[in-house]
Amino acid sequence: MAGAKHLRWLPDGVVVSDDGLLISGWALTVWDRQDRMRFLINGVAFDKLDWPLESVYLTATFPDMPHAQASRFFAWHQRRPDRELFPNGFARFNVTGPLGEHRLSYRTAWYLADPATEPGMPTPAQIERVIGKPDEQAYRLGGATIVQRVEALLLERFDRPLASFQAILDWGCGAGRLCRYLTARSSAVTGIDIDPDNVAACAYLLPKARFLQVDLMPPTPFPAAAFDLVVGLSVLTHLDEPVQDAWLAELQRITRPQALLLLSVQGLAQMSLYRAPPEMALAAHEKGILDNGANAQLTDVLADQTYYRDVMHSRDYILTHWAKWFDVLDIIEGMAGNQDLVLLRRRTD
Ligand SMILES: C[S@@+](CC[C@H](N)C(=O)[O-])C[C@H]1O[C@@H](n2cnc3c(N)ncnc32)[C@H](O)[C@@H]1O
Repeated sequence: MAGAKHLRWLPDGVVVSDDGLLISGWALTVWDRQDRMRFLINGVAFDKLDWPLESVYLTATFPDMPHAQASRFFAWHQRRPDRELFPNGFARFNVTGPLGEHRLSYRTAWYLADPATEPGMPTPAQIERVIGKPDEQAYRLGGATIVQRVEALLLERFDRPLASFQAILDWGCGAGRLCRYLTARSSAVTGIDIDPDNVAACAYLLPKARFLQVDLMPPTPFPAAAFDLVVGLSVLTHLDEPVQDAWLAELQRITRPQALLLLSVQGLAQMSLYRAPPEMALAAHEKGILDNGANAQLTDVLADQTYYRDVMHSRDYILTHWAKWFDVLDIIEGMAGNQDLVLLRRRTD
């Protein structure tokens, strides 16, 4: 239910050609009749839609969802001189109910940047260390989507575009999945990571931003109150509780009063996609924070093989425990790619 409700749909392939754009994926509906759902590109219907197609593989992931066995689609958009495929640099895709898009539809939209504007790519191994598979397209779709959604959220809640922030920190920048799109909007981006190879790749590929390798434990070299916006995608999902607490305190030190922070966690939507057993989700809820053991993705770049872990949080834990350092303004399900996005504000003290 969480996957269907908060994600609603996921793309799994996009092909851009001189003739047009073909996108494939799956879409689930909790309430709407399948024949009334709308598949949109840049706000208008695709020219051709094959849907619903067989998707038996989804029944294992979504056993309780009606129609899971027939939820696949292919949608085709024809290039035409009178319509821009990448308005403002991005194609926007969405699947909605019969009433179409609304003010909050950015939360389920996926975005692809104009290939002509893309910076160089990291290597497949560098990509795999941050998204778990060496898939260039998933990497670009995910990065563009998260940055576009973050900007839409900042505009919706605070009437502020990314360019209005004076100093943006991408904490745990990895191979620059977010920085590659953040730097198009701001010349004040700093990325930090513990992975020296990915930090070097970012510095080479994205010269408009500043990148630094940091130690596993704080402090960072930054002065107090250095940043007014922090993004940290899927970083706290990999640290044990004492390490998380130390980093939350450091983030508090290096942010300005009223600074905003956007940190992601593995919520129920991603748990459903990863087929986390319900007992595990329940244990995370009951304990507040659940450490599921070491994650091997950084084995090649970290000497300490116990540091990087797989960790789940409950909403109540975040709302209470993280409140020691920040005002927790919201937890938005499924908004950070598949993860939940926690919106925090640094208190004035
Ligand atoms: C799942 S990856 C996500 C990378 C990037 N945020 C993205 O969305 O593509 C998590 C990243 O956090 C980094 N990381 C883990 N602990 C960190 C820490 N204490 N400080 C900075 N980076 C850290 C890892 O090296 C890795 O690059």
